[in-house]
Amino acid sequence: MIHPSTLLGALSLVGAASAHVAAWHKGMYCLNGNTPNTDLNSYAIVSPLWQQPFNGWWMHGFNDCNKYPPADGDFLEIPAGGSFQVELATNRAKTTLSYGGRDVSDWPDGQTYPEDYNVPSCIISPNLHTQNQSQAAGTAFAISYQSDINNVNPENLVVFTVRYNTPWKRVVHYDVPAAMPACPPGGCICAWGWVPNGCGEPNMYQQPFKCRVTGATSTAPLAKPNAPVWCEGNPDACTKGAKQMIYWHQLEGNNIDVAGYDLAGVLRSPAYNNKLGFNDERYLFVGTPV
Ligand SMILES: *[C@@H]1O[C@H](CO)[C@@H](O)[C@H](O)[C@H]1NC(C)=O
Repeated sequence: MIHPSTLLGALSLVGAASAHVAAWHKGMYCLNGNTPNTDLNSYAIVSPLWQQPFNGWWMHGFNDCNKYPPADGDFLEIPAGGSFQVELATNRAKTTLSYGGRDVSDWPDGQTYPEDYNVPSCIISPNLHTQNQSQAAGTAFAISYQSDINNVNPENLVVFTVRYNTPWKRVVHYDVPAAMPACPPGGCICAWGWVPNGCGEPNMYQQPFKCRVTGATSTAPLAKPNAPVWCEGNPDACTKGAKQMIYWHQLEGNNIDVAGYDLAGVLRSPAYNNKLGFNDERYLFVGTPV
């Protein structure tokens, strides 16, 4: 008989190697992994962030993903008033960015699952950190009107779109506010974020992109963002207006702490959803210069 701890160890090794989820697009940092070579099978960016010093978690610095920008001219294009698409996947090979899309499926890991996929003890294949779609915590994109990633900080990085019940399937669309102003000539820096709701280590995800707003007509800058706060069932308590990304469970730089249980009786876990006052939509916060 296999000892249960041996089995658990093997499972977590598999998890570490291939099973977490990131947002893939040619405008991402770390597309080729954390080396200068082309790697059609890269997955350095999918590592979760947990108890890291600031420079470790910020923009996925701990494994140098922030030092591998996309190819010259490759940007995540953000159409003002429209929407853009990324692929949520466990590995570059499971996206259309590799092998002409040979290994993709509707799901993040190239496999096939039932539409009503539900595992009460948590889905670990792929490692979606959820029991089913309705429990998926939500993901977001934020933008900083800085062209140099070294000038991006929590005070100038603003959440502008949220998609509830993700990650789930591979292809996800995010909606863009109509009044997003244009980026500087060198583009903007964007970041994708996800804080899973339990189902394993309570970690978080942040990954950088080079991005630019297309079709902009507004010139008003985005407002300075404030930290989100827990406000489930009490909308008056939510942070009003522009919000920062969620920074949680790191050694330093956290912007939220929670205690106790949520209304469903589960340990509170901050996420890009209504428990922190994030709506499933595009945001527009203009006025106060960032
Ligand atoms: C999703 O998972 C939650 C938590 O286990 C459960 O209460 C709910 O019934 C599930 N929903 C579906 C549609 O399977």
